[in-house]
Parts: sequence; structure tokens; C-alpha cells
Amino acid sequence: MEYFKIIDEHEKLNKGQQKQHRDFVDVMLSYLNQPMNPNDEEQTYIIDQTNIKAIILDMIATALKTSTIVIEWVLAEIIRHPRVKSRLQKELETVVGMNRIVEEANLANLTYLDMVIKESLRLHPVAPLLIPHESMEDVTIHGYYISKKSQILINISTIRRDPNLIPFGSGRKGCPGLQLGLTTVRLVLAQLVHCFEWELPHGMLPNDLSISERSRLTAPRAQQLLAKPVYRLPDKRL
Ligand code: HEM
Repeated sequence: MEYFKIIDEHEKLNKGQQKQHRDFVDVMLSYLNQPMNPNDEEQTYIIDQTNIKAIILDMIATALKTSTIVIEWVLAEIIRHPRVKSRLQKELETVVGMNRIVEEANLANLTYLDMVIKESLRLHPVAPLLIPHESMEDVTIHGYYISKKSQILINISTIRRDPNLIPFGSGRKGCPGLQLGLTTVRLVLAQLVHCFEWELPHGMLPNDLSISERSRLTAPRAQQLLAKPVYRLPDKRL
């Protein structure tokens, strides 16, 4: 119901005025009652409010799920590697200091954090086989013939060992949330490592932390990460 409310509010606000800032819902609404394929003369599929609601729900669910999986993996890898954690904390102390919280504007200067996240994405890609793709026509790639309408699974888990490739997929089916996803992950992780020390329970050592993954369409940690945050900034009110 909340989704219909959001759509209604946007429709009301859009009526009769040129908004300067158009958000995702505005863009989706501009497709309302349009054929999904403009070349389809019979207009078989028309985008209605229910489709828009489903797409918004999909985007929110995908954004939350992927970002959470990445954050949990990176934090686990940081805890497993105390040397990396110390270097990251040093970078945060230099760029941000110890008397304020990390803000989005600081992210551009946190280059080591960026490297740590990229390495973790290489080791633990969120979708090890990406999302199944389908070939639109007969095609030969690197000598392999793929007939039209074949389902293609791309084994990014193996490809990730190639330093030239990235973990968000690529081409027209690549991840549209790349910028939002990376910004969210960077900001949350920067704050988690800057504000807290992370202690493992029951005298566990960093090396004891499991790196098993649950293999489905996405690959989260097999066991949830259990660690105790201990506040480390001098001003407890921050
Ligand atoms: C760090 C976080 C994220 C990672 C690692 C990630 C990764 C991926 C990957 C690997 C794919 C499959 C690409 C392919 O099959 O070629 C994908 C697709 C997709 N992602 Fe993300 N993603 C992230 C964040 C987000 C966010 C924040 C959103 C939405 C706001 C989003 C929306 C989508 C959608 C809609 C697709 C399907 C695209 C299509 O099939 O055309 N993702 N993502």
C-alpha cells in the first residue's frame, strides 16, 4: 500500500509543474500506459501502475540485499586481517580525524578503503554466476558458437581471478545500481571501522572466522558475522 501512496504523491506533484529534480519514480511514471516495446504495433504489453510498483519493490529489495551482503563480507575480511584494519583506521584518522563522523564528501579521499572493498568483491562476488542471460541472436565469441535464445551463465567466480574484470557485470544487462551500491557500501563501512573496534566472541581469533559462502543466485556468508562493536571515538555523543 505504501508503494501506491508514493506513486500517488508523485503523480499529484507532477501535475502541471516542471520539476527540477526527477527521481526514479518520476522516470518510471513517464512510461505509464506506454508499450513496453515501442516497436510492438499491437502494444501487447503496456506498463501500468502495478508494473511500476513491482519494479520499485524490486529495486529496493535488490539494493538492500546486495549492499548488505557486500558490507558483511568486507567487514569479515577486515576483521580477519588486523594489518588491513590498522591501515584503514590510519587512513580514516588522517582524512577524517577522530572528532567527527565520516561523511559522503570524505569518500573520494579514502583510496585504501576503496581497494579493500574491491579486493573483497573479487574474493566474494555477490552473484557468482551473475543473473542468467539469454542470447538474442546466433553468435560466435572467442570461437564458441552460441545459438539464439540459449541461456548463458557467466562464471564470475572464476573470471574474478582476472585483474582486468569487474564484479558488477557489464554491457546492457550490467548492474544499474553500481554507483548507489558502491557509495552506500563505502559510507557504511567507513563509519563502522572509524567508530568501532570489532571484537570476536568466545576468544575467537581472526583466522578462525569462516569464509564459507551460501551459493544461490547471490552468495552471502554461510554463517552470519558475529562481532561486538566497541566505540572508539573520544566524543561519545558523536
Ligand atoms: C554493492 C552492491 C551491488 C552489487 C555488488 C551488485 C551486483 C550486481 C550484479 C553482479 C548484477 C548482474 C549483472 C549481470 O548479470 O551482468 C546486478 C544486476 C542488477 N542490479 Fe546490482 N549490485 C549492487 C547494487 C545494486 C543496487 C543498489 C541496485 C538498485 C538500486 C541494483 C539493481 C540491480 C538490477 C535492477 C539488476 C538487474 C539488471 C538487468 O538484468 O538488466 N544493484 N547487480
